[in-house]
Formats: sequence, C-alpha cells, structure tokens
Amino acid sequence: MRVVSGIKPTGNLHLGNYLGAIKQWVGMQAQIEAAGGESMYFIADLHGLTEWIEPRALHANTFEIAAAMIASGIDPKRSILFNQTRVPAHSELSWLLNNVARVGWLNRMTQFKDKAGKNREGASVGLYDYPVLMAADVLLYSATHVPVGEDQKQHLELARDIAAKFNQDYDVELLVQPEPLVSKAAPRIMSLRDATQKMSKSNPSDAARINLIDDDDAIAQKFRKAKTDPEPLGEKLDDLKDRPEAKNLVTIFAALADRTTDDVVAEYAGQGFGAFKPALADLAVAKLGPIRDEMVRLTADRPAVDAILREGSNRAATLAAPLLRRVQETMGLLV
Ligand code: TYM
Repeated sequence: MRVVSGIKPTGNLHLGNYLGAIKQWVGMQAQIEAAGGESMYFIADLHGLTEWIEPRALHANTFEIAAAMIASGIDPKRSILFNQTRVPAHSELSWLLNNVARVGWLNRMTQFKDKAGKNREGASVGLYDYPVLMAADVLLYSATHVPVGEDQKQHLELARDIAAKFNQDYDVELLVQPEPLVSKAAPRIMSLRDATQKMSKSNPSDAARINLIDDDDAIAQKFRKAKTDPEPLGEKLDDLKDRPEAKNLVTIFAALADRTTDDVVAEYAGQGFGAFKPALADLAVAKLGPIRDEMVRLTADRPAVDAILREGSNRAATLAAPLLRRVQETMGLLV
C-alpha cells in the first residue's frame, strides 16, 4: 500500500481541504504504517503556477501549507512530506506522459472548463496540461491509493487511463493504476454563502469559507452568518435533501465531530439554526483553534519547515528514481 496526495499552494487553506483531504490523511497514517505501507504528502507548487500567482505569495503559501499539514497531524517521521519542485522526476515523468495522454481526454476535464471559463484561448498551457502532471505525481511512486476530495476524482481517472495506455502501448506492466479514496464524511464541502458551489480557495468572498488561519471570532462569525433557511432541522438527513445549505452545515458538524450525519440531525431534530449554528461554531473553534495556533507557530519557523521538506524531498527522490528510469528505458530513451 502506497498512499500519495498533494495540495496546491495557491491561497488560503480552508475547511474543505482539511475535511476532504488532510483529516483523511492523518486518520490513515497509523493504518498505513501498520500495514507496512508508505504515505507521501506533498505541496504541489508546480501546479500552483498554472494560474497567475505572485512569486512571494507562492513562496509563503508553500511554508504555510507545510505548516498546516504538520499542525493537523501529518508526522514527518511517519509520512514523507515534501514539495514537488525538489523532486524533478515529477516534471520529467510529466513530459513523458504528455505523449501518452490524448488531447481528447484533456478536453473532457471539467476543472479546466470551470477555471478557464470563457477565456480558453487566454488560459495557460499549464492549466490545460495540469492533469498530466498530476498523473505523474502519483504514477511516479506506484501509488495504490490517492485520498482526495470528490473534485479530483476525474483527474485520477485520467491518471488510470494514462497508466493503462502506457502499459498497453509498450506491452509492459509498469505503471500502477491508483484508486481514488474520496472521503465519505466530507467528499465536497460547499460554500457557506451558496451551497451550489464548493468551498474553494479562489472564491472572492472570504465569508464563503472557513480558512484554517481564521481566528476564533472569524470562525464563529462566518458560521453565524452562513446562509440557511428558517425551517427546523427535521428528523433525519434525508429530510434535508432539498436544502443544500442545511445539509452542508450538518455535514461539516458531523465530519468535525467524527459522528454520522444522521446522529447529528437526530440530536438537533426539530430545532432551528438559531441553536445549531452556535453549537457548530463552538465545535469548529475547539477543533480548528489548536491547529491554527500550531500552524502560526510553525509558519514563523521557516528554517525548521524547510529542513523537513528538504529531508522529505530527498526521500521521495530516492523512491522516484528507479521508476522514472524504467519508463525512460521502456520508451527507448538513452539514459
Ligand atoms: P487542491 O489544492 O485544490 O485541494 C487539496 C485537496 O482538498 C480537496 N478539496 C476539497 N474536499 C472537499 N470539499 C471541498 N470543498 C474541497 N476543496 C478541495 C481536494 O479534492 C484535494 O484532495 N490537483 C490537486 C492537487 C494535486 C494532487 C496531486 C492531489 C496535485 N497533484 C496528486 C492528489 C494527487 C488540487 O488542486 O487540490
């Protein structure tokens, strides 16, 4: 079992990243270790370049994300924690796989369509090609499992297709098709202002997301002001199926508390959001406050975080080298 996943350092880390990805990673760490497997988590700084970002912001975010991962419980002794740039094999494999992936496959990627919007001609080639780099990120390590939020599932299906086509074209069994592991508790956390949209780093409204860096007051206030409806909660989760805002808040509560959504709805059955929201705010402050404090402490100690990333990158590079070489040789390149 080898588990690999990453986060783009493009903006504020938020509750969706935490519940959909990082919390899952932390929860799996012991299990992977017990199974004699490996977990590898990285900051996808090369992916960060696909949309314009100030160099200083990219640099600062890289430290902040590493700090957030460690503060959330990713233990650099048990997991390999690194940044993509320091393992050049990601870029090298990505170029090789560019020749396996088909334009038609990339044309189907919904994230590109969403992000490029109407301005397709003006989007960077990197934004278009991004899923091939993402495939390289996981195929490079023969990842068996990739824990991600639901929005990344399509990219992982592409990675599986690329692996299968490579193996078939070259008549080898070299690239391993990874399984996406989508969090059951929090596959898609939605915006607090409009539950038809996912919570994202790029939403211009800060009130739409809980940032991991938010102070206690900001967390409480954002939940207090979160969009809801005047109805009471109902008896079970199914009662909320046409009430996306209500369902989103219940999902967040349950995921933070490690409880089932039915259990949470049952506890607040018949009550309105006037009672539910303060309880959710208290829970979020209790769970996220200590992570934020540790994150702030670590972010201030850049040399310590840098040393962790450097050591992790060295370990990752050692694991990556043999597969890259075998791919190059299989393709007929002189190495
Ligand atoms: P990114 O940086 O957008 O998000 C990091 C992780 O957080 C999850 N996520 C969410 N989960 C639930 N609800 C949400 N609202 C929400 N928003 C984000 C994402 O699904 C993701 O798991 N392409 C990736 C980064 C990446 C990667 C990889 C991931 C690069 N290479 C290789 C896995 C394997 C991305 O942009 O994630």
